Amino acid sequence: MSIASNQSVKNIDVISVLPEMFKSLHFGVLGRALKNDLLRLTCWDARDYSVDKHRTVDDKPYGGGPGMVMMAKPLRKAIQHIQTQRDKPNWVVYLSPQGALLKQPGVVRLKEKLSTHNLVLLCGRYEGIDERLIESLVDEECSIGDYVLSGGEFAAMVLIDAMARLLPGVLGDETSAVDESFSRGLLEYPQYTRPENDEGARVPEVLLSGDHQAIARWRSRMALQRTLAKRPDLLGTAQLSAEEKKIDS
Ligand code: ADE
Repeated sequence: MSIASNQSVKNIDVISVLPEMFKSLHFGVLGRALKNDLLRLTCWDARDYSVDKHRTVDDKPYGGGPGMVMMAKPLRKAIQHIQTQRDKPNWVVYLSPQGALLKQPGVVRLKEKLSTHNLVLLCGRYEGIDERLIESLVDEECSIGDYVLSGGEFAAMVLIDAMARLLPGVLGDETSAVDESFSRGLLEYPQYTRPENDEGARVPEVLLSGDHQAIARWRSRMALQRTLAKRPDLLGTAQLSAEEKKIDS
């Protein structure tokens, strides 16, 4: 089977006017995943799909107002060109403050989409993208938070990092993505490492006990306590065990 038709290849294509920004992803855990071909990331320069010699991708908004709007045509050409390079259908995500707020279940859902689709992350700049492009070719809009960034690039990088670390083989320890904050809708329990005594502050005794059941119970209680103290809003939707429900009430 050729590499191109290998269904297990996971492709992310990014369309941006600043594709160079994505070089920072080639480090650490994500860098290793890309090097080991667990994920393929291709960044496309929107200006390469411009239709004039100045490589223009934006124009003034109809109706007046400040700033510039990204034109539909170059972005459409880029999306269509990417589709010709891929076996799986495109799933186009437009990073925008108007999108649905990204949370861990959304990251998991988009990571799973990578098995059946080619994920195209469309990064807007300026005052946004011509609405007709969004209506015709965007499958979903995604926001990483209720604040406005100067473009979708950082949001796309956040999404790529959050998805990549859930892919099999990306994290060294297969369990580490399961145990952590948000995997069940709770914050993570506190962690300690050597020394046992750091300037008088001691590691909780139970973690030195070797009693794995007691450690698991303690961690579960601490995760719950922390969530209650720092993010009580999460408790409404967290998946609690029968034991945890008793502690919570
Ligand atoms: N582009 C600008 N602001 C953004 C945000 N908060 N999330 C996603 N994309 C954006």
